[in-house]
Amino acid sequence: MNDIISKAGSLKIKLTKPDVNRDAPFALGWFESIHGKQTLLLMGNAENEIKPPTLEGEKKTLQKFIELEKSNEQLTWMIQADNKTIGAVWIELKDTEFVKSPAVHMMIGDPEYRGQGIGRAIMFEMIKYAKEKLKSSVIYSRHLVSNKPVTALLDSFSFINDGKSYIDSNNLEWQNIKLTFDI
Ligand SMILES: CC(C)(COP(=O)(O)OP(=O)(O)OC[C@H]1O[C@@H](n2cnc3c(N)ncnc32)[C@H](O)[C@@H]1OP(=O)(O)O)[C@@H](O)C(=O)NCCC(=O)NCCS
Repeated sequence: MNDIISKAGSLKIKLTKPDVNRDAPFALGWFESIHGKQTLLLMGNAENEIKPPTLEGEKKTLQKFIELEKSNEQLTWMIQADNKTIGAVWIELKDTEFVKSPAVHMMIGDPEYRGQGIGRAIMFEMIKYAKEKLKSSVIYSRHLVSNKPVTALLDSFSFINDGKSYIDSNNLEWQNIKLTFDI
């Protein structure tokens, strides 16, 4: 998997493979900040399941990303800007109980970098990757119905609802979505 270089305005963005020692301190920083819990809630974590972040925990998550890539279950890129790791984006390659594949998910962990066009630039790259590299004619995702920024972003790419919204065991309301295209 090669790096992907993109731009949001004048900001250069690099999508690159996870590196446990490089990325874990950044991830810890996102989740230790005053916005960290809100980020996890936006991603669909249930409030009662959110544990205080630790460096070891972040290292484990990154190691898991690397293992999922080895077993061809998921491709993960870390999002870098200004020599910092500011988030992650991943494509699930296997259907799960929650969403069909290929399914894209994104998190700009550092709130300072939200709202600058980075999410839009990365989603464009992921759709391109699904078409050109995965030779897929569809890409799926899912998000909390309450997550307005991601809903607006994916609507603007013409994702459509894939079925009705549903409530999970934590009482959170989700919407599965899909985008189909010619390849
Ligand atoms: C959702 C997320 C990926 C969007 O990335 P971003 O870089 O902040 O978004 P962009 O600046 O590229 O904006 C793209 C579009 O998203 C929507 N958007 C972004 N921020 C928004 C906000 N605060 N409120 C409403 N819509 C918003 C808009 O439609 C925007 O298009 P516009 O600028 O033409 O109006 C990012 O905010 C994020 O990672 N949030 C926390 C984690 C999360 O919610 N991940 C998604 C889980 S499914």
